[in-house]
Amino acid sequence: MSGAGEPGSGVLARALAARRVVVCVGAGGVGKTTVSASLALEAALKGRESLVCTIDPAKRLANALGLSALGNVEARIPDPVWSDAGLTPRAPLHAMMLDMKRTWDELIARYAPADVRERIFANRFYQALSSALAGSQEYIAMEKLWELRSSRGYPLIVLDTPPTAHALDFLDAPNRVLDFLDNDAARWLLTPALRAGKMGLKFFNLGGSFVMKQLSRLTGTETLQELANFMLAMSALNEDFRERARAVKALLRDTQTAFVLVTGAAVDRQDEAIHFHSILTANGMAPVAVVVNRVHTAPTAEDFDRARALPSPLQEKVLRTLEERATLAARDALGIAELQRQVGNTPLVQVPRFEQDVHDVRALAETARYLVGEASVSV
Ligand SMILES: Nc1ncnc2c1ncn2[C@@H]1O[C@H](COP(=O)(O)OP(=O)(O)O)[C@@H](O)[C@H]1O
Ligand SMILES: [Mg+2]
Repeated sequence: MSGAGEPGSGVLARALAARRVVVCVGAGGVGKTTVSASLALEAALKGRESLVCTIDPAKRLANALGLSALGNVEARIPDPVWSDAGLTPRAPLHAMMLDMKRTWDELIARYAPADVRERIFANRFYQALSSALAGSQEYIAMEKLWELRSSRGYPLIVLDTPPTAHALDFLDAPNRVLDFLDNDAARWLLTPALRAGKMGLKFFNLGGSFVMKQLSRLTGTETLQELANFMLAMSALNEDFRERARAVKALLRDTQTAFVLVTGAAVDRQDEAIHFHSILTANGMAPVAVVVNRVHTAPTAEDFDRARALPSPLQEKVLRTLEERATLAARDALGIAELQRQVGNTPLVQVPRFEQDVHDVRALAETARYLVGEASVSV
């Protein structure tokens, strides 16, 4: 067992103590929600009131945090949840589940003039934007973060993020929303046609234009007419909305915001993380740490000794399992070494693969010990 004090240990503890916002990013299924909840919980344990804003938490985790019935609102983790886990936090922990559709609707309800609001809600382009358009989920998660950050007094907010297929979807999201709203060319083309009551053939000659690119991202049977209606309605959103998209963008580059990149240990999954890391870094959002989650730990010599003391055929079976574990651990070690080479000075923080899912407060607290360097993965 390597001790605390190795490279990487403590970097997340410092971020939890000093930053106002921690954003956990990474591919789907790597453990972003788990890491987000663990970090917020750790902050509360150490005395910093925090909120974790989760996206699609596993049902059992949501239940454990008392989130089952709530959507899009914050709830304080009740005292019995802590005491049942044998834990005593020094500050409150709050959690919420982000409802992306609802957040979009709230945003439009706030910024769209009353006469266009219903038209926007009913428009299929809006429905696509608020649920499926590339980058829109990423955008709305950050938008919610901005709202929470500016309207509530939480010393620390930890944001979980949607499973992102491409790092660029995430980083580009505020730009895309701004482009979409500010695209004068598209509006200039569409508005007269709309006023005339029908779309001219001209629209089919837009070729590789912005509008066509947006269109091609949408599936199904949407019509240009409906797009025109949508652009027109969205253009009625006032300047405050644009201002807000700019503020969201600025928050991500704020010195009080820290990014944590979460990834798995296997070597064949590292390309994505390495790519994500380089894009974040190039955009002034270098992660404070890369969390390597679900690292297989190598069996110890004692594990093998104990197995050899077992009667046949159990002995052979246990030995085979231990050897498999040793192989997986060796493979992970290679992946981790390569990852460290690729991410340069960014510290890696390893969390072991636990035997069970991380679905309750006690397991989150155990995960957090690894995240802040109070425990470390044996190699
Ligand atoms: N270190 C770990 N050991 C064991 N199970 C884990 C670990 N990290 C996450 N899990 C489990 O893996 C599943 C996916 O994790 P989750 O945090 O929901 O991933 P993501 O948010 O990236 O999609 C969950 O059931 C979670 O409890
Ligand atoms: Mg998740």
